[in-house]
Parts: sequence; C-alpha cells; structure tokens
Amino acid sequence: MLIQLTYASRISAAFTNTDLAKILAASQRNNARVGVTGALCLANGIFLQQLEGDRAEVNRLYHHILADTRHREPAVLDFAEIPSRRFTTWAMGSLAPLDTNRHIFLKYSRSASFDPYGMSATTLQAFFSELLANGEWIV
Ligand SMILES: Cc1cc2nc3c(=O)[nH]c(=O)nc-3n(C[C@H](O)[C@H](O)[C@H](O)COP(=O)(O)O)c2cc1C
Repeated sequence: MLIQLTYASRISAAFTNTDLAKILAASQRNNARVGVTGALCLANGIFLQQLEGDRAEVNRLYHHILADTRHREPAVLDFAEIPSRRFTTWAMGSLAPLDTNRHIFLKYSRSASFDPYGMSATTLQAFFSELLANGEWIV
C-alpha cells in the first residue's frame, strides 16, 4: 500500500549546512534502497519533509529520522494513502535556499515567515505541487 507522510521539525541549535548536505546524501543513498521517494525543504529553521512509498517502509524510515538529534519538535502534519507518487525521480529532492522560492512560500503562508506547523493538509498538498512545478530544486 502506497502512502505519503508529511511532517515538520525544527533544526537543532548546532545545525550547519554541512549537516544538511550529509542528510541529503544519506537520504538519497538509503531511500532508493527501500523505494521511498520524497522532498525535503528547509526554511526559517524549519524542515518540511514529504515521504512516499510502502506504508511499512515509510513508517520505519520516519521512526529512524525521529531519533536524529539534528532536529527537534517533530509533528506529523498529514498521513494519507495515495494512488500514485508525486516525486517519481527523486529518492530525496531538496529546495534551493529560500530566497529563490520566496514567492511560493509566501503564497501558502498565513504570515510573512514560513510556518508549516500551521498549514492545513490541503494547503500542504497544494504547496508541494507548486514547489514541484515551479520551485528551484537543488537535486
Ligand atoms: C529532517 C531530516 C530528514 C531526514 N530524512 C532522511 C531520509 O529521508 N532518509 C534517510 O535515510 N535519512 C534521513 N535523515 C537522516 C537520518 O536521520 C540518518 O542520519 C541517516 O539515515 C543515516 O543513518 P544511518 O547512519 O543509520 O544510515 C534525515 C534527518 C533529518 C534531520
């Protein structure tokens, strides 16, 4: 069964750009092996990640990620069965720094600063669709 999990978390105090590069490298290596695809955004000190794949694999991966001390305050924002994947070409895609994508972040935010913790599931889905179509991605 194919599912999609969307969660947010905050970077830990000691977080650096090197940490982000390491997370992406590990994600691309590990996710491909278990058939998980997805995307990771980092803006305003907040991660927003969408993971999609087999229910058991996504669950296992999410619990593995929860144990990572490089982030805190994780919150599942949406968990749903999906008919097909959104990120078919990425084990883990990542967005370019916020400035280049600022208009998309603002379009779906209630306030001037990005805060996915307050976004509804419907808004999150629209946000990821637009990021995929019009965002500037690193990977
Ligand atoms: C916000 C965030 C998202 C992450 N996403 C993934 C992911 O999608 N896949 C993955 O394998 N590791 C991800 N990681 C990294 C894992 O927590 C872990 O460091 C990595 O899988 C390496 O684990 P290993 O040494 O057991 O292989 C993420 C970490 C953070 C902080």
